[in-house]
Amino acid sequence: MASRMARASAADGAGFPFDGAAVRANFPLLDQANGRGQPLTFLDSAASSQKPAAVLEAIDDFQRRDNANIHRGIYALSERATARYERARETVAGFIGADPRECVFVRNATEAINLVAQTWGRRNVGSGDLILLSEMEHHSNLVPWQMLAEEKGAALAHVRVTPEGGLDMDHLDALLRRGPKLVAVTHVSNALGTVNDVVEIVRRGHAAGATVLLDGAQSVPHLPVDVRALGCDFLVFSGHKMLGPMGSGVLYGKLALLEAMPPFLGGGGMIGAVGLERSTWAAVPAKFEAGTPAVADAIGLGAAVDYLVGLGMERVRAHEREVTAYGLARLGEVPGLTLYGPTDAAARSGVIAFSLAGVPARGVAAALDAENVAVRAGHHCCQPLMRALGIDALVRASFYVYNDEGDVDRLVAALATVGRGERVPGAAADGGACREAWSGRVAAVGD
Ligand SMILES: Cc1ncc(COP(=O)(O)O)c(C=O)c1O
Repeated sequence: MASRMARASAADGAGFPFDGAAVRANFPLLDQANGRGQPLTFLDSAASSQKPAAVLEAIDDFQRRDNANIHRGIYALSERATARYERARETVAGFIGADPRECVFVRNATEAINLVAQTWGRRNVGSGDLILLSEMEHHSNLVPWQMLAEEKGAALAHVRVTPEGGLDMDHLDALLRRGPKLVAVTHVSNALGTVNDVVEIVRRGHAAGATVLLDGAQSVPHLPVDVRALGCDFLVFSGHKMLGPMGSGVLYGKLALLEAMPPFLGGGGMIGAVGLERSTWAAVPAKFEAGTPAVADAIGLGAAVDYLVGLGMERVRAHEREVTAYGLARLGEVPGLTLYGPTDAAARSGVIAFSLAGVPARGVAAALDAENVAVRAGHHCCQPLMRALGIDALVRASFYVYNDEGDVDRLVAALATVGRGERVPGAAADGGACREAWSGRVAAVGD
């Protein structure tokens, strides 16, 4: 397998897909079956992806050999830990075309958005100002702005979603004429997979005088992303969706913006000098990294980026597009199944959302789980989007580097077992409040 992988990396031209099964062999967790011997078909990477052995080994190696607090110790162990942490930052920065000083390690995309709202937002958004979002946003890119708007007396407006699951660019233009302070939109929809034309959104947002934040939680793991080419002011993403550990995430911000922003959390690590009454702040990015950071997780994220770079992001994108196109074609043939989002695989990432006539989304997911096919069902932390589409919930299959056409075939075969019109015992009906019930148990809200 390793040699096949190496061939895929070294010999294939960028843009050519690789062998999903060969990649899969690098992910120990995926090598499992249920009690009936059915292999795990993991189709929920948009929630959290799995980790290749290289990432697990990097974390383990750090914990076994180099674990010490960083930026403090005057001893070799601490210096090695610091070097590995900062090397991970350089790796991540290189991956998105940024300067390492522009990359703040945070816990996840949600924390990154809250950081911007509570620092840049508090300083730059005032009473009557407009914050422009979209109906497509994950709750993480809605709620922090609602909190800021309430505190400041600012207004919110939302770009409409078209029936095809894209952003209505004419509506964007109309709202931009109101002169928003901030435009914050997702690069890729986690619920529909739509790839938004963010180059154009950034261009139009800047022309209207707005600062632009992009939610890259679903784009950075799946597409080549370059912050200089995008021109965005802020970009946020999470390590656990890109083969890295939970607890690792990144806020990218243009250097001048980060330097002008007040700190987020106060404490050790983010200070210049501390007096009893007043303190000064460290230079960025340390100014935003108060307390002991998740060092091993950052190092794991660096290893995940190395792995993705080894595959080639153009190739990752091409591979997912191929699997998605196959998935759209196969699922389109399933009786009673309705697909949501763009019909063209080139206009979406590796996400396919659907409903099955007569069966609640969670009932579909529970039935698929019985066949060892893991998908997500619910509102996908996009309740306003579900409302805009006139639905309560969707089933979502999401693909990544380790999936291939065989996974699609297993999904389609498993769908044939879903009892039409029957309630899966214990499966909650769709819709409802912010917590998603599944098989009668209450699960925490995921993505
Ligand atoms: C588009 C998008 N934004 C933000 C988030 C929040 O990510 P996290 O829970 O890692 O903060 C998610 C998670 O699913 C997402 O898909």
